[in-house]
Amino acid sequence: MSLTENSATEESKSRIDSLVDDANTPERIIEISATNREVTETIHAVEDNADAIFTWDYNKGARPRLDRLYEKAKTSQWNGQTDLDWSISVDQDNMVTDPDPIEVQYYAESPESPLHSFGEEEWAEVNRESLKWALSQFLHGEQGALVCTAKIVETVPWIDAKYYAATQVMDEARHVEVFAKYLDEKLDGDMYPCNTHLGLLLDDIVADSRWDMTYLGMQIMVEGLALASFGFIHQTTTEPLLKKLLRYVMSDEARHVAFGVLSLQEVYQSLSSAEIRERQEFAFEAALRMRDRFMRQEMWDRMGVDVEKMVRYQLNEPAELKAFQALLFSKIVPNCKKLGILDAGDGWLRDRFTDIGVIEFENWVDTASEYEDLDAVAADRAA
Ligand SMILES: [Fe+2]
Ligand SMILES: [Fe+2]
Repeated sequence: MSLTENSATEESKSRIDSLVDDANTPERIIEISATNREVTETIHAVEDNADAIFTWDYNKGARPRLDRLYEKAKTSQWNGQTDLDWSISVDQDNMVTDPDPIEVQYYAESPESPLHSFGEEEWAEVNRESLKWALSQFLHGEQGALVCTAKIVETVPWIDAKYYAATQVMDEARHVEVFAKYLDEKLDGDMYPCNTHLGLLLDDIVADSRWDMTYLGMQIMVEGLALASFGFIHQTTTEPLLKKLLRYVMSDEARHVAFGVLSLQEVYQSLSSAEIRERQEFAFEAALRMRDRFMRQEMWDRMGVDVEKMVRYQLNEPAELKAFQALLFSKIVPNCKKLGILDAGDGWLRDRFTDIGVIEFENWVDTASEYEDLDAVAADRAA
C-alpha cells in the first residue's frame, strides 16, 4: 500500500516536460486522435498492479465525514428500471438546443474550414451525433468508474472508505446500466467506441499501483469532469427522460467526487513535496487527456470530416466558443484547490491550468461542500 513506489523516472519526467510544452499543439493531439480501432474486441485487459488490503480495524466512524457519506449513500439509492419512465418516446431531432450561431459562423466563414459547406441539415446532424457521442463516452467512463471503485474497495486501508466505496460500486453499476439502456432503446443502439484519449486515461488510472492515484484520477478528475458535463446537458436538454436520468446520476456523482476530496485531503497531509509534485503531474496529464477527448474525433471521422483539420480549427476557436469546454473544468479546479495541489510547491499545477485556460474556476464551490444540495432522491421523496 505504498504511496511512493512509482517514483518519477527520467522517462516520465521528459514525458511531462513535453506535455507542458505541447499542451496546445495540434500535432500532439492528432498523433493519437484517430478513432480507437482496437475496440473491435469485446474484452480489454489492464494489469492493475496493486495489493488487496485487509484491515482488522473495524472501528466504524473513525473517519466521521466518510461515515456520513456512507450513511447518505445507503438512503439515496434509486432503481434505474423503476424510478425512470422508459415509456417516454424520444424525438432525436429535438433533444438539444440549436447549434450556437457563433460556432456556425466561425466554421462557415473561411473556405479552408472543414465545415465550410455545412448547411442546416448537416448542423442538425452534428447536434444529434454530438449527443450520441457524449452519451457513449459517458457510458465508457461509467464502466471505468465501476472498475476503479471496485479497485478502491480492495486497496484502501480504511474501513469507512471500503464501506463507502462499496456503495459507489453499486451506483456505478446503475449508471452503466441506464446509459447503456438509453443508447440502446432511445438512440437506436448507435454507440460510439471509447475515445482513445479517454481509454488511455482509464488504463493509466487502473494500472497505477498507488491507491490514492485511483481516487485522484477517477473521483477528482474523471468524475469531476463528468459532474460538470452532466450538468450542462441536464440544463440544455428538453427530453424529460434524459433530464431525469442525468439529475439522478449527478446526485450520485456529487457524492463520489466528495468521497475523493474527503479521502485525499487526509492522504495529502502526509506526503512529501516530491510526492505531491507527482500528483500534480498526474492531474495535469489527466486534465489534458480529457480536454483533448472533447474534440469529438470519432464523430468527425464518422461524418467524413477531416479530423486533423478539425482539431486545428477547434484549438483556434474564439474565446466565447471555448467557454463551454472550459466550463467542464468548473468542478476539477476548485477541488484541486481544496486538496492543496493547485498551489503546492511552486504553484506548478496553477501554471498548467492557466496554460489550458481553466484557472478562472478556482474559486467556484468545491464538491465536498455541495453534494447534499444535489441529492435528487431525497428532494423527490420530500416533495
Ligand atoms: Fe457514475
Ligand atoms: Fe461516479
